[in-house]
Amino acid sequence: MKALIAAGGRATRLRPITWTINKHLIPLANKPMLWYVLKKITDAGIRDIIINVNTGEIPEMSRALGDGSEFGARVTYIEQRGGAKGLAHVVANAQEQLQGERFLFFLGDNIILGSISRFVDRFQQENLDCMIALSRVKDPQRFGVPEFHPDGSLKHTIEKPQHPPSSFAVTGIYLFNEKFFEAFKTVQPSARGEYEITDVITWYIQNAKIGHEEITGWWKDTGTPDALIEGNALIMDDMGREEFCVHCDVPMETQIQGMVTIGKGSRVGPDCLIRGPVVIGEDCEITNSYIGPYTAIGNRVKIRNAEVEHSIVFAGATIDTTRRIVNSLIGQDATLVDSQRTHPKTGHHLIIGDNSFVEL
Ligand code: G1P
Repeated sequence: MKALIAAGGRATRLRPITWTINKHLIPLANKPMLWYVLKKITDAGIRDIIINVNTGEIPEMSRALGDGSEFGARVTYIEQRGGAKGLAHVVANAQEQLQGERFLFFLGDNIILGSISRFVDRFQQENLDCMIALSRVKDPQRFGVPEFHPDGSLKHTIEKPQHPPSSFAVTGIYLFNEKFFEAFKTVQPSARGEYEITDVITWYIQNAKIGHEEITGWWKDTGTPDALIEGNALIMDDMGREEFCVHCDVPMETQIQGMVTIGKGSRVGPDCLIRGPVVIGEDCEITNSYIGPYTAIGNRVKIRNAEVEHSIVFAGATIDTTRRIVNSLIGQDATLVDSQRTHPKTGHHLIIGDNSFVEL
């Protein structure tokens, strides 16, 4: 079997962060989001992986993720040709690389805790043509949604319905066989101009042997800042005790509680409290600060006199403020300081990039 990962798109809801980084490379617990996807896929025994990226992004993606050898796998990158025309089109774009094989299609912004082997094994053992994973959600209108017959079998799947016929989302973890390309030929672009994956699934429901499974564990598509911060937290919860480690000298007086990673070359002052789960990168300087649970801090970050909790701080950022920072995304090389060093002393002095969100 092969796997195809969708890692293109513009991720407008995550701007300004995504002006300078592909969403799928955003760090969660200090590793690119796609690292976890590659781990999931290879843990399920699939070693031939194709990653579909935006035009011109192959160098950036391959620099961040490598050739798959870290996972004992082979990763091939392909560019999305013909622009963004929907998820079914992403698969069609990879037809040549998929070479008529059965494949797992994984949306790179989907984070799932636990293994996907159960889905892959059932798809193979029952020789299904297609298999979809469903998850119960509060807001099905944001997703592809299945409708069921009274006997529980699938009737069809609809993309982002205003009046959802069930409370399930079709998650971004799909298994297909070569019939996909036959189905794709029958699909017309939707009102939003996209070849919808849900239309292909409906074709399978009507013309082939399809299975579905509910994901009972945690699943999320990380399309919004809040979902990203939650994903960061859940990944830390999922990390094994052995994955946390302090790789530098820390003064005896520094309070380190719970599961904490601190990278090489980082300096943490005696006047700090780090309460895990927390992941701190390399060459950081943290003085007189509290770093609270579910915070990930990238390399070369400086934090002084601050309290930071449940947040993602990207590499090179500086935080020097007595205000408490929570549920925040602080972008690469961003600076956050108190205003007392500027005149006039009242008023906020802000340089905020396009599409930023600031709550004062
Ligand atoms: C896409 C699919 C949708 C699916 C969702 C899962 O939506 O079109 O059917 O439920 O992924 O993440 P999008 O993220 O493009 O809004």
